[in-house]
Amino acid sequence: MKTGVLFVCLGNICRSPLVEEVFRDFVRQQKIDHLFQIDSCGTANYHIGDPPDIRAIKTAFSHGLTLNHLGRQFNHSDFQYFHFIIAMDKNNQSDLLRHAKSPQHQKQIHAFRKFDPMGDETLDVPDPYYGNIADFEKVYEIAKRTSENLLQFILKNK
Ligand code: 4NP
Repeated sequence: MKTGVLFVCLGNICRSPLVEEVFRDFVRQQKIDHLFQIDSCGTANYHIGDPPDIRAIKTAFSHGLTLNHLGRQFNHSDFQYFHFIIAMDKNNQSDLLRHAKSPQHQKQIHAFRKFDPMGDETLDVPDPYYGNIADFEKVYEIAKRTSENLLQFILKNK
């Protein structure tokens, strides 16, 4: 069975679709992408069916990545399909924990920046929605330097 990895932010148009694609690209480079089901979603319902924010698309494109995602909202059944549920910030994490119905569900939820070699679990991936393109580039940089540690954690704990 494939290992499911789900990246979660608020709107699913800025951070999580960008982080999803950076992580997918990293896993592809390791030639193990066939072992994974990678997706993203939002805790909110604001952008269901929407493509990512144009600034996320441009940031990805400038690094050779294409975002094909359409926004969707977190659903309780995601606990069944995604072994690792990765929150972009503390609000996303507490919203997800409210959905958790068992200690097993709680264990599936992690803060993305726990795996950042330059961060810790008290830190958020800053929301670039009200920011500018440089703020999207910062999200890209966090994702780029964090993907390896996250993959190592998943391979050890799957
Ligand atoms: P995201 O950013 O959670 O990184 O996708 C946001 C996108 C949309 C909104 C807030 C944050 N919004 O309020 O519509």
